[in-house]
Amino acid sequence: MPLWRQQLTKSLHQTRNTPESRYFQLATCDANGLPQCRTVVYRGITDGHALEVISDTRTSKYQEISQQQGVQVCWYFAKTREQYRFTAKADIITTDEDARRVASHWQKLSDAGKKQFLWGEPDTRRDPTLPLLAEGDFNEVPAHFCLLNLTVKAVDYLSLRGNPQIREKHIKDASGEWVVNSVVP
Ligand SMILES: Cc1cc2nc3c(=O)[nH]c(=O)nc-3n(C[C@H](O)[C@H](O)[C@H](O)COP(=O)(O)O)c2cc1C
Repeated sequence: MPLWRQQLTKSLHQTRNTPESRYFQLATCDANGLPQCRTVVYRGITDGHALEVISDTRTSKYQEISQQQGVQVCWYFAKTREQYRFTAKADIITTDEDARRVASHWQKLSDAGKKQFLWGEPDTRRDPTLPLLAEGDFNEVPAHFCLLNLTVKAVDYLSLRGNPQIREKHIKDASGEWVVNSVVP
């Protein structure tokens, strides 16, 4: 288990009672080469060290990731005062790629969570005087529901606890082993 992952497991454990510690920022690159950043929810981590996020193929990030799989995650744990910056490769998993995996994430959602995927096309005009109605069957995985599989390639870890602060760069060496270097914060 790489050291960064042991640290992340500890951070998640220490912040298990604060739901906002499951939110992180995901930055993609758009067609003009400009960064686009948004908040998403951490849904798990795979054996292959990929962060899992649920999303919608009708959003801009889908187009951006389809063009450029290189992304960055920035995750700050306020309680433990730690920042993780993950350089990652994003893969979009829809029902076509892995129906069981996608369905298992859909089934874990509450009805309120499922509703957000059934309101209609994201980022299109709406009449704010009319209610937004969810249309569809909660038992069926919508075709646009997807999983973002963010395989971690490098980690820049910063801990603000203590004096001096700790900053570590985690990368894979030529043989594929994770190595860590301490650097000046
Ligand atoms: C606290 C919070 C959590 C969010 N979680 C997700 C998420 O897990 N997946 C997602 O696609 N969007 C999530 N969003 C919405 C995104 O931030 C964003 O507004 C939306 O996905 C459209 O992004 P895009 O147009 O850049 O693709 C969340 C927003 C907030 C404020």
